[in-house]
Amino acid sequence: MRGLAVLVTLVCLASAQHQALIDYLERRLLAIEDRISLWHEQTTRYASELRELKQQMVSQLENLDKEKETLRTNLDSVGTRVDRVERELDYLETQNGAQPCVDVDDRLIEQQVTLVKEKQKAKYAKISDCSDMISSIKAMKIMKRLGGAKGMWSKDTSKSSGKVYIFNGTNDDTIREFASVQDFTRSLGMSLSTDLKLPSAWRGTGHVVYNNHAYYTNQAEEIMVVKYDMKNSSVTDSAVFPVQDPVPVYTLTPETLMDLAVDEEGLWAIYATKQNERHISLAKMDSNSLDIEQMWDTNCPRENAEAAFVICGTLYVVYNTKQPGRSRVQCVYDVNDMVSNEEAPLVYFPKRYGAHSSLKYNPQEQLLYAWDDGYQILYKLSMKKKLDV
Ligand SMILES: *[C@@H]1O[C@H](CO)[C@@H](O)[C@H](O)[C@H]1NC(C)=O
Ligand SMILES: *[C@@H]1O[C@H](CO)[C@@H](O)[C@H](O)[C@H]1NC(C)=O
Repeated sequence: MRGLAVLVTLVCLASAQHQALIDYLERRLLAIEDRISLWHEQTTRYASELRELKQQMVSQLENLDKEKETLRTNLDSVGTRVDRVERELDYLETQNGAQPCVDVDDRLIEQQVTLVKEKQKAKYAKISDCSDMISSIKAMKIMKRLGGAKGMWSKDTSKSSGKVYIFNGTNDDTIREFASVQDFTRSLGMSLSTDLKLPSAWRGTGHVVYNNHAYYTNQAEEIMVVKYDMKNSSVTDSAVFPVQDPVPVYTLTPETLMDLAVDEEGLWAIYATKQNERHISLAKMDSNSLDIEQMWDTNCPRENAEAAFVICGTLYVVYNTKQPGRSRVQCVYDVNDMVSNEEAPLVYFPKRYGAHSSLKYNPQEQLLYAWDDGYQILYKLSMKKKLDV
């Protein structure tokens, strides 16, 4: 009996333990289930947060894409602009550029030029407040193609007149007058022009139009300077230019024995004589009386020169360069002795023909009127003060 009682006790104990174990396990399972459902909840929350984040990211990426696209178009347009600026720079360089190897070349010529002893260094007697010199060519414009390969064109180099004059050819007696630059550019050939017939033919391209007068040369053994009144079509004055044995002043423009020029100070003659055959001489003339005020022998060679002009008492001579299609100011002579050859500006002119047949400075407009193989071209100059060099 005792044994049975023990057994029952043991069984009871065992089943009580079993129940406790089951209870324990159930609690654990519930806890685990709770935790799982918590995880589940959290995971769903995370998942939805992640989805939201992803959506945000996507829309931001889209925005970024759009911004990238705008940036790319902006860059493209900047690129095109850079291209254009580069092309313009290229163009300017070809017009006015300095290629080192050529410069060395040109410098050598210039040194030779300066070695030549200047004969006359007498300062120009007149006091003048004009002190500009060229710094560069700012712009170039081809205005028209009219007439033959050689000639001269110019506006009247005085304030009031807007008239344009054409001296076509190197041996003719009829000046064509246009009422304005507009008339000149829109005229079909010479159709809008008026003829001014001179009593004698001009020779070369050395003429100027100044204060309603044409000054031209008429050459035989001597150089005759003729002053012609445009208003009443009559010769006002004429004078023999007082030099012996003149020779063509530029070897590349042989038709022009003597060249005339107008600057801020008035009328100048650019010429050469047998006595000083290798160099160009310069004279200041009185535009009223045609008297010579002063003369200078410059150090600028005639050889390879094609044209010249005067600005503020400084003679600029333009030479053919070794580069085809280009000429260059390569010698300067300042009557006031303020600009030397070392300070000569690096000024290039493009050209089509063998040489510019004329280059005329207009002091009112600071423009050069050029005739190049029948093209009438304007060069706009930028200036600086001689003292700033
Ligand atoms: C200009 O001059 C050239 C050469 O002298 C001549 O052949 C041509 O016919 C002239 N043109 C005009 C429009 O006068
Ligand atoms: C033309 O005008 C100038 C002054 O403007 C005068 O000296 C000259 O005598 C005139 N000539 C003729 C032919 O009228």
